[in-house]
Amino acid sequence: MPLDPRFYRAVEPLYFSGMGTEHVAPLLYTLARMTRPRSVLEVGLGYTTPFLAQALQDNVAEFESDRRILAAPGADEERQLLLVPDHYAEEYNPKLYAIDDFSDEGSSGPEAIKVIESLGLESRVEVEQGDFHGRSRQLNRSAYPLDLVWFDCGGLPEYVDFIQEYWQLINPEHGLLLLHFTYWNLAYERDGVAGKQLMCGPIANELKRQQAAAGLSAEFEVLSLVEPHKQRQGSVTMIRKLGPASRCRDQDFEQEVCEIFGTKYKPMIKL
Ligand SMILES: C[S@@+](CC[C@H](N)C(=O)[O-])C[C@H]1O[C@@H](n2cnc3c(N)ncnc32)[C@H](O)[C@@H]1O
Repeated sequence: MPLDPRFYRAVEPLYFSGMGTEHVAPLLYTLARMTRPRSVLEVGLGYTTPFLAQALQDNVAEFESDRRILAAPGADEERQLLLVPDHYAEEYNPKLYAIDDFSDEGSSGPEAIKVIESLGLESRVEVEQGDFHGRSRQLNRSAYPLDLVWFDCGGLPEYVDFIQEYWQLINPEHGLLLLHFTYWNLAYERDGVAGKQLMCGPIANELKRQQAAAGLSAEFEVLSLVEPHKQRQGSVTMIRKLGPASRCRDQDFEQEVCEIFGTKYKPMIKL
């Protein structure tokens, strides 16, 4: 089932406007559909949880349909040419590991479990009740490596602790980490005028700083999306781990195209 009206009706009770995840939730759904993760970790249950679980369920349906297409000569040839057959050699049984200690009374975390059940998604989700600190050692070993991680819990100390414990557990090939609320409304002074502005917060800044400092040898890339109409909870920073084939090559466009196609092409402008 895609994100149809029945789905939105079922998840409505989980939506608490102060959490600000009304657009992040469908974004997470799309990311999980697109990157087809085998293992997803969410810290901080609520509105976002069923979107992730539904994406995994829909991925399974798509995986099975693709497998049938690949196995049937003469079936949808365009789709056959699009797919990587090796991907379909292994079974696809994705799981969402969802950690929450249910300490926040203002969260819809506990309700999320009921909604997951009402949508028939319980086989896709393992709820881990408790503090995320130290929890990585208790998760099922098949949870690793983590392909997609969504962290939506606590403040600066939690973000620092989480990255320290879980970074190494994220898949080095395309593993994605998403952090919520990374841009802050910070005070600034420019030309003697003081004000407040949505600015890159300390965590997002440190990630960007480390990526820039690593230069061409950076093993991750960072992108932040900001909701300009919100002063809190309106940003998400994505960090994507880069396997060797995704890392930057120190070769300019003209030179590389010439090597690949044996022809000269007009250069790219400098951005
Ligand atoms: C911001 S809410 C999650 C919102 C949810 N993603 C949504 O879209 O509605 C944060 C959640 O993290 C949980 N939490 C807070 N500290 C935690 C900790 N140390 N370990 C695990 N969960 C924690 C809270 O109980 C709360 O449910």
